[in-house]
Amino acid sequence: MSDAFTREPPWDPRRFPPASRAPRPVQTARMLRDPLAYARSLRRRFGPVFSLRTYPYRGALVCAAGAAANRAVLTDHERFTGGDAAALLAPAIGTRSLICTPPPLHLTHRKLLLPPFHGERITRWAQRVRELVHGGLPELLGGDGVPVRPWAQRLTLDVILRVVLGLTDPARVATFRRALNAYVATGNLAVLFLPGPLRRDLGPLSPGGRFHRLRTAVWDLTREEIAARRAAPDRAHRDDVLSMLLDARDEHGAGLDDAQLLDELTGLVLAGYETTATTIAWTLHLLAHHPAARDDLIADLDAGSDRLLKATVKESGRLRPAVYNAMRTAAHDTELGGHPVPRHAFVAALFPLTHLDPELWPEPDAFRPGRHLGPDPGPYALTPFGGGVRRCIGVSLAQLEIETALREILAAAVPEPAGPPEPARLVAVTIVPARGGRVRLRGRQERRAAAAHVRHL
Ligand code: HEM
Repeated sequence: MSDAFTREPPWDPRRFPPASRAPRPVQTARMLRDPLAYARSLRRRFGPVFSLRTYPYRGALVCAAGAAANRAVLTDHERFTGGDAAALLAPAIGTRSLICTPPPLHLTHRKLLLPPFHGERITRWAQRVRELVHGGLPELLGGDGVPVRPWAQRLTLDVILRVVLGLTDPARVATFRRALNAYVATGNLAVLFLPGPLRRDLGPLSPGGRFHRLRTAVWDLTREEIAARRAAPDRAHRDDVLSMLLDARDEHGAGLDDAQLLDELTGLVLAGYETTATTIAWTLHLLAHHPAARDDLIADLDAGSDRLLKATVKESGRLRPAVYNAMRTAAHDTELGGHPVPRHAFVAALFPLTHLDPELWPEPDAFRPGRHLGPDPGPYALTPFGGGVRRCIGVSLAQLEIETALREILAAAVPEPAGPPEPARLVAVTIVPARGGRVRLRGRQERRAAAAHVRHL
């Protein structure tokens, strides 16, 4: 167990915000079955700040909803500290990755990582992303329906491997893809939720053994890229994040050593592809089930505008944010929303609860992209990419990928339902559509022909 888990205070109803009396296994099962409905029911019962008693926490997870509590957790760094709070994911993404780095080192590393992700630099990838979307389109179109998420995962992984590691050789990309897919498979990462001893490497057949073997495979491949790039004579002219990071220096002239680079790169790849793919899948799935919003968007895109496209992505990020929560730990005994929070307790800003708050978003369950064409209800009412000094550094890249994928797909096809709307499932910290976000994509020409045929009958 990492420090953050060993420091965690035990459950004591007098020291934590209110919680359901349901036993821990029941609360855990309800969260896994329906993370949106269960958290909302607790919020309705207890107000914007409550405790959730689920595994793997031995005390409780303090949950925050609504703009005020969301803002406090994301921006009050004196009281709520990031880095250590990502303890659960640290063995998978790397203890020295930005996500797992506590202050003050976090800010130093963030400054090193930010330049390649700047919006202007990211726009240079637009053509490459378009090509990758185009190349994958035939697999999506036609048929009775496809789950969009696996398709989008292939796309976003190819993009991230190109942008972050600079991979261009198709054979090398394929090798990485195989290693990463095996590593991030739900069955493998489930090991993170096992009690400490079971997570250890207890031989090749144990879950821990498998996890360590698959992680080593990803690390070895990444180490080879770092070594090759260090030796590359053309590094100064390369545009990938790895090449830039090798030469990045902080204000004291210090750079990242190979162990830090390894964790930063693994963290960027893992943080960047599942999230983006999940958002693409949810957005197409929501559009398929809301034909009026879909047709308005297609008409707006056809007219050369991207106003509704941006509003649609916002609305999808509001209703189905890919990342469920942002985690912090309480730096000292404090309060949140008038309730006590003990030192070292885990605290989570639960984004879906804030995004579905009827005081901020009237008719919160309705998918209405048009609501984002006017002013937003406030800065911390909509935070799919988080906020404060730990806000997502990949936001420009993610938006470029999501917008490009939607623009290209909707120019060629119209999403229609391929079954009932899918419920949300929680996989680690990601909210995914239960069946991969199935949609039927009908080619626009085919659809027009079918409509003309019906008119002639
Ligand atoms: C739709 C896609 C994405 C979503 C919804 C998303 C969401 C988030 C959220 C909510 C956070 C804040 C976590 C916190 O406050 O603790 C975050 C942080 C982060 N994201 Fe993303 N992300 C996406 C795509 C990406 C991409 C494409 C990359 C990189 C290539 C990336 C890299 C990171 C990193 C490194 C952090 C940590 C920042 C820090 O601690 O300073 N993300 N992301």
